[in-house]
Parts: sequence; C-alpha cells; structure tokens
Amino acid sequence: MSITLPAFTPAEESLFLTLGGRALESRLPCPFLGDTMADEILTKVGYDLAKFPALNTKLVDRKSRVFDIAVRAKRLDEIVRRFVVHHPDAVVLDLGAGLDDRMFRVDPPPTVDWYDVDFPKVAALRPQLLPQPTNAHNIASDLADPDWLDDVPTDRPAVIVADGLVAFLTEDDFVSLLSRLTNHFPSGELAFNLYTTYAIWAVKHAPGMAAIAGAVVNPGFNDPHQPERWVRVLKLAEEIFLTRAPEVAELPLIMRLTSHLAARSDTLSRLIGTTVLRYRF
Ligand SMILES: C[S@@+](CC[C@H](N)C(=O)[O-])C[C@H]1O[C@@H](n2cnc3c(N)ncnc32)[C@H](O)[C@@H]1O
Repeated sequence: MSITLPAFTPAEESLFLTLGGRALESRLPCPFLGDTMADEILTKVGYDLAKFPALNTKLVDRKSRVFDIAVRAKRLDEIVRRFVVHHPDAVVLDLGAGLDDRMFRVDPPPTVDWYDVDFPKVAALRPQLLPQPTNAHNIASDLADPDWLDDVPTDRPAVIVADGLVAFLTEDDFVSLLSRLTNHFPSGELAFNLYTTYAIWAVKHAPGMAAIAGAVVNPGFNDPHQPERWVRVLKLAEEIFLTRAPEVAELPLIMRLTSHLAARSDTLSRLIGTTVLRYRF
C-alpha cells in the first residue's frame, strides 16, 4: 500500500517526532515500550526522520535518545489501562493523537469507546494506517474548536490523555479545553506530559527541533498545581518523574547517574527530565 502524505504544518509534523521515537525504540534489543506497530506505520508512510536530528544524534546513545518518548508513553498507557479496568464503560480520549497506536498497546475491552482527536489532515490518515475496531473513533478537528466534543457521550467516566500536545496549544486554548472537558463528563482522569517554561524554551531553541519550533505557542508552567487554579474541579493525583522511573536502571552509566542525581529533587526532575501529570475531576 502506498500512502501519499499531505503537506503538514509544523504542529502536525511533530507527530513524526513521537512516532519516530517509538519506532526507533522498538528496534532496540531490550525496548522499554516495544511499540512495533509504530515501526510498521513509519515504514508504511516512508517518512524520513532526518528532520528530527534529536532522534539520530551521535552525541547520545540509542537508548537514551528515545527514553523520554517511550517511557512517558508507557506511563500514559498504564494510566489508561488502570482506569478502564475499574471503568469498563469508560470513554478514552487521546488528544492530539497523531498516528499513535495507543489503543492497541492498551487493548481495552470492547465496552470502552476510544476517541483519537487530531487535525483533519492527520485524522484522515489514521484509517489508512491503523486498524479501526468498531469502538475506535477518529475526530478530525482543531482542539480549539468548541464543538468537537458534541458527539462524545456525556454520561460515562472518561480518561483523557495528551502525549506531546500541550506545547502546541496557546494557554487560553489549553485552559478552555480543560474547562470544556471537565464540564462534559461526570468524572474522570486527565494526564499529560508537563512542559515547563524551560522545556518550552529548549524546544524552541534546540537545533534538533527546528522543524517544529515555530508551532510551539504554549508558555509552559512549572507548578503542577497550576491547572487546579485554572479549573477548580481538577485535583492533582500524581506527579510522575521519569528521573525516578525503574527503566532508568537500564540506561548507560552517565545517563543513569544524571537521572539519579536529578531524582533527589522535584524541581531538578521537572527541569531536566520528563514529568507526567495526572489529575482527577
Ligand atoms: C508531538 S505530536 C504527538 C502525537 C501523538 N500524541 C504521539 O504521541 O505520537 C502532537 C500532535 O498534536 C496535534 N495537535 C497539535 N495542536 C492541535 C490542535 N490544536 N488540535 C488538534 N490536534 C493538535 C498535532 O497534529 C500532532 O499530531
């Protein structure tokens, strides 16, 4: 099957950074995540990862290069898996899903309805590249559009994840989105990777990120309690520091030592590592 890719905006193109990271990670001898479907999708689209030098830099070993992308996806998968075990009638939303095959990694029961949301150009690619079980739904919309939730059930608990998305939303759009989501469902959980103000600065200035830097519009935030102030019903349930992840033990010595040092402080962990935030509402 040959796929003709559309011309992507930098925000849309960012999906290849995370997809590429998971694909390369699946090729490691002992992967953390082992997402071989990501590798199949990348091969089918024939995308050249040269636009993302961070994935191929010789300055960092192969495992460390993809650690954050793979392990944060794994933590988010675990959050969804745990939620659907307790709520087999749940609705799952993956916001800015790109070409992620999270649904197949999590493997929820058929009673769960799963919604992957992304811009129309990206959503149109998903049925060409990923299996489409009857409980999988693609929503083709800008998340800033106030109407995209209209067809999503309102009477079921929801688990909402956003992997690599927040950097591409303005703060106003992000806060409105949080508010619409928490008003739409009776209860649920929301989890995403944190972009600190430093992380935003780094993505905008790192030479390896030039392909997407222009699309980064969120200023970032450093206090994990900030979303509780924006949207009163959100309550921080967990802050997961990848500097403290068990998978760190599998990294080469220098990366391991750096992580162990940073892991002693929450502030340092947020600054140099990836953090996944989980909220209840
Ligand atoms: C870094 S990629 C992550 C993709 C996917 N979550 C993953 O982990 O592979 C960010 C994704 O967010 C999507 N995105 C960014 N801004 C968006 C918006 N306003 N509405 C819908 N999708 C958006 C992009 O199209 C892209 O697919």
